[in-house]
Parts: sequence; structure tokens; C-alpha cells
Amino acid sequence: MERAAVVAGLGGWVPPTIVTNDQLAGVLDTSDEWIRRRTGIRERRWVSPGQSTGDLAVEAGRRALSSAGLEDVDAVVLATSSPDRHCPATAPEVATRLGLGPVPAFDVAAVCTGFVYALATGAGMVALGAARSVLVIGADAFSTLLAPDDRSTRVIFGDGGGAVVLRTGSPTEPGALTGLNLGSDGSLSDLIEVPAGGSRQRSTGLPAKTEDTYFTMQGQAVYAQAVRRMAESVKETARRTGWDPAEIDRFVLHQANARILEAVARRLGLPPERFLSNIEVRGNTVAASIPLALADGVASGELRPGHKVVLAGFGGGLTWGSMALVWPRLAPPATASAEPAVASAGADPGPP
Ligand code: ACO
Repeated sequence: MERAAVVAGLGGWVPPTIVTNDQLAGVLDTSDEWIRRRTGIRERRWVSPGQSTGDLAVEAGRRALSSAGLEDVDAVVLATSSPDRHCPATAPEVATRLGLGPVPAFDVAAVCTGFVYALATGAGMVALGAARSVLVIGADAFSTLLAPDDRSTRVIFGDGGGAVVLRTGSPTEPGALTGLNLGSDGSLSDLIEVPAGGSRQRSTGLPAKTEDTYFTMQGQAVYAQAVRRMAESVKETARRTGWDPAEIDRFVLHQANARILEAVARRLGLPPERFLSNIEVRGNTVAASIPLALADGVASGELRPGHKVVLAGFGGGLTWGSMALVWPRLAPPATASAEPAVASAGADPGPP
């Protein structure tokens, strides 16, 4: 019988420190009004000193395992572009901290498309019979890559982790992943980058310029590409799944910018209400954004069992990708969501 990878658990986690637009406006030449109007973001969470992507991944992974009712999986795939260290990958340490034993564990780097790429990798392992279950995590602490004085990037990104557990199942059951569409265009790799720190800069033997160690993005060019590529990828996934886009109940897109979600909806001629959004309180959490949006959607009741869902990511590389599934009924605490944004409103936000 044909095998499929089926979503069996879901979890998300964000760190407690809230950074509001007003806090950013206190130290940068920006305003709450500009940030809300241009991005839809009101606040985001950032890691505190010493906290890392691995910490976010462990918390999200633990919640997904608990949601799946599993203590073991056969592999861990971690999507991140802000690993704890350049070398080695972060996933093996995450697997060990989760008590998963000597399972294969590795990172996948595709920036904001990372989760879809990691999901495709995990699903492929299941489909091959190489693993019966895989923990797929998307986690990023992108705040650590942002230049302290760069208003154009600092207002956009939030930190967080999200994860799903995949198990072996049948292609016809709810939760089965299908319709995979992935793509990339390396000719536009300069649009989203951290210029220094890699082999190209280090092989020069020259010290990195400080400004080159931070993340940069050519916002408008990225915006246009994000809208076009996600709309095309969603259409292709719908075609491969045999769904008319009009019958898809929920679109869970990378949460880059509220205006991008609206523009994709317009391009597809579909009601914007079908596009889940948590960007107001999460910001752009890079590889965590899709699983966090799933967790928040389940928690709010906007994503329900039986919904026809398409996930779509877009990010640096450039990279993009989509997958489809019928949302499954997950056993409690399957609704394990990201901590509600209000949960730690009392926490000391610290300096932005
Ligand atoms: N506050 C106030 N003004 C600002 C800010 C800010 N935080 N940031 C930029 N501006 C200014 C600019 O300096 C510019 O001023 P100027 O006209 O005097 O030169 C003006 O606002 C307009 O700048 P734009 O960059 O054109 O602003 P835009 O409306 O395009 O919004 C944004 C910028 C939010 C970055 C948008 O382009 C965007 O969302 N792009 C896509 C991001 C994305 O999709 N990322 C996904 C992948 S990310 C990844 O893979 C890691």
C-alpha cells in the first residue's frame, strides 16, 4: 500500500519577552503607526540574552511530541537560518535535549521557506520507509541577526519555534501531506542576506565589516517576489492535489507582512479571511512562522479538522514552496499552541 506522511502532532512556543512598536519607536526613527500600516505588526517576541534558536526548538518540539502522544521519533529535521553556532548543526543537540536518543538529526536552511523544505524532507523520509515518525521543527532567533540601528529590519522580525510530528499513514487519511511544490532562484540571492561570516568572506582573510555581519533585505523587491512566488506555488500545489483554489478553506502562508497576505489573496481572487494571520503579535518569525500560524489557528478555532489547507512559504535564496493537507483531528493537547501573547504581558520586556 502507498505510504504517506501524516501530521500527528503540533506545537509552538515563543519566548516571554514582548517588544512593542512603541518600544522600538523609543530607540529608532519609526512609529507604531508606520509599522502597523506597512506591516500589520503590533508586537513581537525576542529571545533574552543567552537564549538561542535551539531553546526555541526544544520547547516547540516538546509540545509537538506531547500533542502526538509520542516520546520517541525516528528523526529530527530542524529548519533554521539562525543556528546556535555556525558549526555543528543545531538539530542533534535539540534531539538530545528532547531525550530522543541517537536518531538522525540535521538542519535545513531555506530562511523563511525553511519549514516547508523541512516538511518535504521529513515527508520524504517517511514515504521512503526510512523513518516511521519524524519531528519537523522550524525555529529562528532572527532578532540576533538584526543591526541595532536598522529600522527597516528591526521592526519586522520576531523569534519563535513551531513543530509538527509526522507519522506513517495512508494518502487518503486526514493529515496526509500532498501536492508538494518547491522552487528556488539563486540569481536573486543578494535580496536577502547576511553578507559576512560565511566562507566567501572568511576566505579573504580580512576581518568582517561589522555592518556586513547583520541581516539585510531589499524590501520592495522581496515584496514583489513574495507575492508572485507564493501565489504561483499555491496554485501549483492546488493543481497537483486536484483541488480548485476556490474550495481551499485555509491558506497558511509565511507571515512576512499583512499586506503580502492580502496581495496574494487578491492575486488568487480569494477572500482574505481564508488566509490565517498571527503577524500582529508574532511578527515575521522566519522558519517558525508557518507552524506557529498553524498552532495559533488551532488555538483560536480558525483552523479546524476537515479544513482543506495549503501551506506556503517564501524566503531568502530565493526559495519558495507549498504543500496541502486536510487538517486532521489531533488528540489533546493537540491544540497546544504558542503561548498566548497575553500570557507573559507582565514579563519585563527589557530594552529592545
Ligand atoms: N519606520 C519608518 N520608516 C521606515 C521604516 C520604519 N521602520 N522602514 C523603512 N522606512 C522608510 C524607508 O526608509 C523609506 O523612506 P524613503 O521613502 O524616505 O526612502 C520608506 O519608509 C519606504 O520604504 P520601503 O522599503 O519602500 O517600505 P515598504 O512599504 O516596502 O515596507 C517592508 C518595507 C515592510 C520591508 C516591505 O517591503 C516588506 O514587507 N517586504 C517583504 C519582506 C518579506 O516578504 N520578507 C520575506 C522573506 S524574509 C526572509 O526570508 C528572512
